[in-house]
Amino acid sequence: MDNIKIRLETEKDYRAVEELTRKAFWNVYKPGADEHYFVHMMRNHPDFIPELAFVLEKDGEIIGNIMYTKAWLEDEDGVRKEILSFGPLCVDPAYQRQKLGKILIEHSFEVARSMGYDVNINFGNPGNYVSRGFVSCKKKNVSFVRPDNYPTALLVCELVPGALAGKAWMYIPSTAADCCEDTDAVEAFDATFPEKEKKWMPSQEEFYIYSHSSVVR
Ligand SMILES: CC(C)(COP(=O)(O)OP(=O)(O)OC[C@H]1O[C@@H](n2cnc3c(N)ncnc32)[C@H](O)[C@@H]1OP(=O)(O)O)[C@@H](O)C(=O)NCCC(=O)NCCS
Repeated sequence: MDNIKIRLETEKDYRAVEELTRKAFWNVYKPGADEHYFVHMMRNHPDFIPELAFVLEKDGEIIGNIMYTKAWLEDEDGVRKEILSFGPLCVDPAYQRQKLGKILIEHSFEVARSMGYDVNINFGNPGNYVSRGFVSCKKKNVSFVRPDNYPTALLVCELVPGALAGKAWMYIPSTAADCCEDTDAVEAFDATFPEKEKKWMPSQEEFYIYSHSSVVR
């Protein structure tokens, strides 16, 4: 695709990024969306990493973005390692499935490596990520909440191959997304955008299945 540019997000982009996030996530994982509120709030969270908040422009218009927070892995001795977790990641629906998501992931991973990070972990639909080097958390011995619990949607990408080898880990996510539990605040923020119809979509059931299941064998 021509005239594509990736650059860091600036304060002037905030509302455009929130509008894009709302548009891309609307009705995908639930009727409506709360990811634009998450974006709005995470920029003030201590785990937010502004050096990894990128927007993708085409002809000067923002049509994609990726944002990161810190997360942690704890080994069997209780020693913590700081890692990355991206999300939201989104591409304008008019430009999806044209490798722009891939470009955003690869660009930000490159910068992340130069900052010394060697692992990224996030919850997501495996179909979006397995071709980007992500594997099931079970294959990297990364459990969640309790040992031997390997959620299907918990996906691990070693930015440096072998970074997790030889140990068992427990994933500890940032609390940045907890703000979305305040549904009144989500609704109040959403009311500052033009009205949009909330409805059921099959992707919501797909997400339910991924987010309520585990890899057991
Ligand atoms: C998920 C998202 C960011 C991906 O961006 P994109 O630019 O559309 O994705 P890409 O073109 O880079 O392809 C991503 C992968 O999706 C899969 N994919 C491609 N086309 C697909 C299709 N028609 N149906 C299902 N999966 C498809 C493939 O695995 C593809 O990788 P590959 O073609 O190299 O094998 C984008 O679709 C989006 O914004 N979705 C809504 C918001 C969201 O769900 N964000 C992710 C959760 S944080």
